[in-house]
Amino acid sequence: LDTLETNGALKGRHILITAGPTHEPIDPVRYIANRSSGKQGFAIAAAAARAGARVTLVAGPVHLPTPAGVDRVDVETAREMLAAVEAALPADAAIMVAAVADWRTADAADQKLKKDGSGQPAPLALVENPDILATLGHHAQRPALLVGFAAETQKIAEHAQAKLAKKRADWIVANDVSGDVMGGDANAVQIVTAAGIESWPSLPKREVADKLIEKVAHALSPRPD
Ligand code: CTP
Ligand code: CA
Repeated sequence: LDTLETNGALKGRHILITAGPTHEPIDPVRYIANRSSGKQGFAIAAAAARAGARVTLVAGPVHLPTPAGVDRVDVETAREMLAAVEAALPADAAIMVAAVADWRTADAADQKLKKDGSGQPAPLALVENPDILATLGHHAQRPALLVGFAAETQKIAEHAQAKLAKKRADWIVANDVSGDVMGGDANAVQIVTAAGIESWPSLPKREVADKLIEKVAHALSPRPD
């Protein structure tokens, strides 16, 4: 299905995409996770490959097939995701769709944690994970176009504007996750840029992916003199 209107602008370009959740181990059998299915990020990777880009997809633990023509790197934790992203540079565009766990355990136990009979669970100390999008935003090899996603349940545009500035991204694709977006097949997004806010209607994730890749192609295409 080659309905993408990218006019070949992505041929020979490298697009780096993250998708899915990360898992942060607590002990050998338990982990911290979130509800990301990876569907939106995988759809974007598929659209970019169909448009002729070289695509690196850094994927957290998900149950999805690798889209045709996509180089996939599987990771588990946020720190592994950051390492894989930096190893994949340089890229012309990076689209960070992953729902990276904000916190990991301060140190994962080597052995399974056991109940000690007191009725009190052992305290779980958490530390903040590295911010992959912000790292790219401040990187010596910052991609020319840097796109983040933002899952919000309230004040969507306002929070997206703040993330745009803090992470030095070019666009934030903001979505309202107060409904059943996570794991669902449709997504209503707002594209927040320095130029303003574009609101798209609720669309199948595949169509959000196609429209976003068309917008990326337009942004990367050389301007006429
Ligand atoms: N992100 C990232 N690394 C992190 C956290 C987030 O790369 N450790 C990226 C996500 O992939 C997404 C963007 O930053 O592209 C926004 O993620 P979000 O969770 O909405 O923002 P946070 O900065 O984590 O803020 P909060 O969860 O507190 O709203
Ligand atoms: Ca977060």
